[in-house]
Amino acid sequence: MPLPPALGALRLPAIAAPMFLASGPDLVVEVSGAGLMGSFPALNCRSTTALDDWLAEIAGRLGLGVPYGVNLIVHRSNPRLEADLARVVAHKVPVVITSLGAVPDIVGAVRGYGGVVLHDVIGLRHAEKALGAGVDGLIAVCAGAGGHAGTLSPFAFMAELRAMFAGTIALAGGITTGAQIAAAQLMGADLAYLGTRFLVTRESLAPEAQKRMTARARSADIIRTDAVSGVAGNFLRESLIAAGLDPEALPAHGALDLAAEARAWATIWSAGQGAATIRDIPAAAELCARLIAEHGAAIAALRAV
Ligand SMILES: Cc1cc2nc3c(=O)[nH]c(=O)nc-3n(C[C@H](O)[C@H](O)[C@H](O)COP(=O)(O)O)c2cc1C
Repeated sequence: MPLPPALGALRLPAIAAPMFLASGPDLVVEVSGAGLMGSFPALNCRSTTALDDWLAEIAGRLGLGVPYGVNLIVHRSNPRLEADLARVVAHKVPVVITSLGAVPDIVGAVRGYGGVVLHDVIGLRHAEKALGAGVDGLIAVCAGAGGHAGTLSPFAFMAELRAMFAGTIALAGGITTGAQIAAAQLMGADLAYLGTRFLVTRESLAPEAQKRMTARARSADIIRTDAVSGVAGNFLRESLIAAGLDPEALPAHGALDLAAEARAWATIWSAGQGAATIRDIPAAAELCARLIAEHGAAIAALRAV
């Protein structure tokens, strides 16, 4: 179960996952500076020029050799993909996280400067396609994850992926504690991938009301629907109701359109079932230190069994 050299020096094998409208330079710098890996979606920048500024700021604040990641949405409705990729290549971003499509040209461009491509998948067919495109690693997005969540049990999907791929696998879906990160490793994952837990931190750019709504939600308050954007995702029940929707009778939606999705996500808020265990809004560095301590304690407790 190898980690790419870029990620080998992490204090805790965990990634703060990219989150639309929530991850920005402060979150990335605090997380990567604390020994996990921070990341953000390129589309959180208003323009490719703004992406250039963010990349320069993050690299400058972190210094050489500290890994961070950028998420590129590979879909025909993302008109910025080519221009954003050119800035990613120019800044030699250590880790590129691709979503939706896996494309050999993008993998080639990133590997060309020594970068690593991780691709998120919710099923075996996606994983096979991504491996065919030459990605370095897979992110298994399982049931209960925030964003465009999958439906598979992490136990089933992780084992299925591990049986067909010996490379890097990150596991996602409801992970919010250091013990759960250790559990992901026991299940065969190289890395844990945490979104919702980092959504509810001080540095997250999400509205305070979204953080508070997430921190009071229970797992049953997370509704999986494709009504918001055309791709199934997990959303806070309270925010669906506030937007005038009936969570028990959600309308059908057409094909994915990123522009429409961007508008919808500003008012209908995504979060994963991990919300059930989140009750505070810590500073990101404090959260990272807590995760590292919990992870160490969980490993020690296992050794003592
Ligand atoms: C508010 C929010 C926004 C997200 N936006 C993106 C995104 O822009 N790109 C992406 O690849 N994943 C996105 N995700 C998914 C996360 O990257 C990650 O897969 C997921 O949060 C992991 O599950 P967890 O929330 O249970 O930890 C988002 C998740 C949340 C909660």
